[in-house]
Amino acid sequence: MMLLGLRGIGKTVLLNEIGRIAENEGLLVSRIEAPERQNLPTLLYPEMQKVLRSLSTVEAAKQLSKRGLKALRGFGSIFKIEFAGVEVGVEPEPGLADSGDLQHDLPDLFGVIGRAAKAADRGWVLLIDEVQYLTRPDLSALIIAIHRISQDGLPILLVGAGLPQVARLAGEAKSYAERLFYYSEVGPLDPESAALAVQKPIEREDASISASALDSIVDRTKGYPFFLQEWASAAWDLAEGPEISNDDAARSYNATIASLDSGFFKVRIDRLTKAEVAFVRVAAGLGDGPYPMAEIASAMGRSQSSLGPIRANVISKGMMYSSEHGFLDFTVPLFADFMRRQKLV
Ligand SMILES: Nc1ncnc2c1ncn2[C@@H]1O[C@H](COP(=O)(O)OP(=O)(O)OP(=O)(O)O)[C@@H](O)[C@H]1O
Ligand SMILES: [Mg+2]
Repeated sequence: MMLLGLRGIGKTVLLNEIGRIAENEGLLVSRIEAPERQNLPTLLYPEMQKVLRSLSTVEAAKQLSKRGLKALRGFGSIFKIEFAGVEVGVEPEPGLADSGDLQHDLPDLFGVIGRAAKAADRGWVLLIDEVQYLTRPDLSALIIAIHRISQDGLPILLVGAGLPQVARLAGEAKSYAERLFYYSEVGPLDPESAALAVQKPIEREDASISASALDSIVDRTKGYPFFLQEWASAAWDLAEGPEISNDDAARSYNATIASLDSGFFKVRIDRLTKAEVAFVRVAAGLGDGPYPMAEIASAMGRSQSSLGPIRANVISKGMMYSSEHGFLDFTVPLFADFMRRQKLV
């Protein structure tokens, strides 16, 4: 399963919740986040080691997990993984997961882990956040491994989360990815859920919020979780209590925007070069997205092809995504508003 959505929409929260549910069901759960410059073998190695060690304590899975640990040993050497916990007394098994080609070795390893898990009557849930930062070869290898697992009916489940472009990236890496994954779009909360997200934590503290204050927060945040969180927190801090009034909500609005501007929004722009900022600023100046690439180019007085590298960078840095052919949009909700506010300063 792949959870796809914009920044601050609740993907990580959802992934953690899925992990909690899986743990309560007695499944083995691993959680990794794909950073921009770290490879998949290095990220997965310690998790696979933990899972195999845990499975090796189950009598019925002992042999298979030992074999898995041997394979992992060879895998660790060939991918030059510097790990603290070298398996003492474990000799690598030549020919298993040690070809140096991740597209062969990862499916091999997942196969052994899956068979060991099946023998132990357990399951392994692998949660990967920020999937869009995986390199194409890493993503391909992961897809092949999951494909193999699903064909062999082994108990390994991948739940990924990332920006909307993940669907396209996965499809480009392996065309069958479209049929392999269940893509679930994570969008803003509906008004009822948004109201609950604000109200429930307040009531847990034996306080309350007036209906009109709640309405205005739900309405103006458009159900975006990061915005709800920030505003509700600012209103809570400002209110005398025990009820958060409409006036408290109204008075905390500016503090909320200021806090988002200097945090949530600003960290995105800080990662861009000057030329990329100019590109993003021109797009925001056109109104709310999605933006036709042709229009951005003409507003900048440039040709579309000359903007190719900048376009590629704002996408790979996760600032924008290609919403449909020839169109771009921000990955951060309400980002165009933020850029336009910056102009006034
Ligand atoms: N279901 C929810 N109920 C209450 N608050 C939520 C919920 N989902 C998200 N939030 C709030 O929104 C914030 C952003 O959520 P989260 O970090 O999961 O977003 P994300 O989609 O992973 O964003 P990013 O792409 O930037 O990583 C959380 O820190 C939390 O405050
Ligand atoms: Mg996240």
